[in-house]
Amino acid sequence: MPADAGRAWWRTAVVYQVVLRSFADGDGDGVGDVAGLRSRLPHLRDLGVDAVWVNPWYASPMVDAGYDVADYRRLDPRYGSLEDAEALVREAHALGMRVLLDVVPNHTSDQHAWFRAALAGDETARARYLFRPGRGADGAEPPNDWESCFRGPAWTRTTDPATGEPGDWYLHMFAPEQPDLDWSNREVADEMLDVLRFWFDRGVDGFRVDVAHGLVKAPGLPDAAGRDRRTEEHPGWDQDEVHDVWREWRALADSYDPPRVFVAEAWPARRAERLPLYLRPDELHTAFEFEPLHVAFRARPWRDVVDRSLAMAELTGAPCAWVLTNHDVVRQATRYARTQFPEKGTNETERARWPTEVPDLDLGRRRARAAVVLTAALPGVLYVYLGEELGLEEVEDVPAERRSDPIFWRSGGTDPGRDGSRVPLPWSGDAPPFGFSPPTRADGSPAAEPHLPQPAGWAALTAAAQDGDPTSTLSLYRRLLALRREHLAPAGPMRWLPTPSPDVLALAREGTDVQCWVNLGAEPVALPAGARVLVASAQVDGGVLPGDAGAWVQVADR
Ligand code: GLC
Repeated sequence: MPADAGRAWWRTAVVYQVVLRSFADGDGDGVGDVAGLRSRLPHLRDLGVDAVWVNPWYASPMVDAGYDVADYRRLDPRYGSLEDAEALVREAHALGMRVLLDVVPNHTSDQHAWFRAALAGDETARARYLFRPGRGADGAEPPNDWESCFRGPAWTRTTDPATGEPGDWYLHMFAPEQPDLDWSNREVADEMLDVLRFWFDRGVDGFRVDVAHGLVKAPGLPDAAGRDRRTEEHPGWDQDEVHDVWREWRALADSYDPPRVFVAEAWPARRAERLPLYLRPDELHTAFEFEPLHVAFRARPWRDVVDRSLAMAELTGAPCAWVLTNHDVVRQATRYARTQFPEKGTNETERARWPTEVPDLDLGRRRARAAVVLTAALPGVLYVYLGEELGLEEVEDVPAERRSDPIFWRSGGTDPGRDGSRVPLPWSGDAPPFGFSPPTRADGSPAAEPHLPQPAGWAALTAAAQDGDPTSTLSLYRRLLALRREHLAPAGPMRWLPTPSPDVLALAREGTDVQCWVNLGAEPVALPAGARVLVASAQVDGGVLPGDAGAWVQVADR
């Protein structure tokens, strides 16, 4: 196991998020897999990450990219076998990296054995889900007014297996193919604990917990009566009893040596009050800090986000887990390539109008590089999303027939959904598949096309093209993560430094003379006299930090 100089590794780790189907394809079917990931582990080691988080790799009909799990103890055959999974964990450990998996406890796939049995009328299986009679004449109306996060009602009506007549409804907070489990049923809790044990026993170091503010619903499933799940208390989300689950999970994780860890994906309304509850010392270790996903490239809002998050970390004792992007949002190079809104940059309404504005991707990439100079300097954990280290942009012109995200289909195509951030990585070469797949399959036939089309322009962004180019985004990430490991990961709390312009943020950390300076405005500014630049997101000449750029510097007389 990697040595961590006595501190809990997960408090300062850099974690790389792998969307398995889009990372690397080992067998030529156009879909990434564990063999591909194993073959590219050296890329992650050279990048300097401490851990790899693999998005759901379980057997799944892939209605929601694997967040619809049919069997929690088996890999999807497209991804590999249990032996492949075990080999991955071993090899990652040997290279000094931990492995986190993704657990989806709120819902299963409709193809899970439990749900199939439930639909076939098995009462024990039905009691593990939320089946309810409909309202109105003949039960033709859903049992309550809740809406699915993927549009439309959160209920689907079933057919009574005995009579063939329309029967009860079942709850699904996401797609109809993702029925919600009933967490008031002890069998559900026991099964999920057993699933965790299954993977912990195979050396997995922890889990990212999908929709950790879900699972438990208010008793009686009352109407939401117009309340917005994102901003107001909603009977479908963030119920107090969910914390009983996290306490049991933590006790299990702590019973292992070394202890296993969790990171929560939690979106409770009234975040400042409610998120800290998930981070109590006997609950989940960390929770993603999602505010950067929505904050404009401007100094004031960024500073506020950092201050709020650090205040929460102070309160809970849990480190911030910084996220600039992930598989659910528009990639940052594109986000920053359009008009920056005064406060929040990318809510759904704004996203819908964005396509009318042509993105300035040079500017977007420049800002994305500056943003990671900032987040990598902050206290806490840093998450890196696959392809971020190559400066990839959102692919906005994926043809409809190639899209797979239920958000696209369920919105009738009005919301482009998330496929554009999940396009297979370009590794090498001048044309698709850019080394993502081998040229041929085991039987000698040509490899299939990547599951989502890669832009021709990615020839300039392949890992091979960027390797050895000191000005590339890949080189920037490598240098930042190496310096972070040496100077900033072990450093203490941060403080803001005075700067010559309100568009500039500068920070210092206790116990190191490395400072971070980021210029979120367009006008160049002078760095402190005598500052020695260790790494910069753009060319720094004569001690002047250009606009939309950041640098880590050492200042002689501080
Ligand atoms: C989480 C995942 C997202 C998925 C949803 C339903 O929000 O990040 O990708 O669609 O949960 O499981």
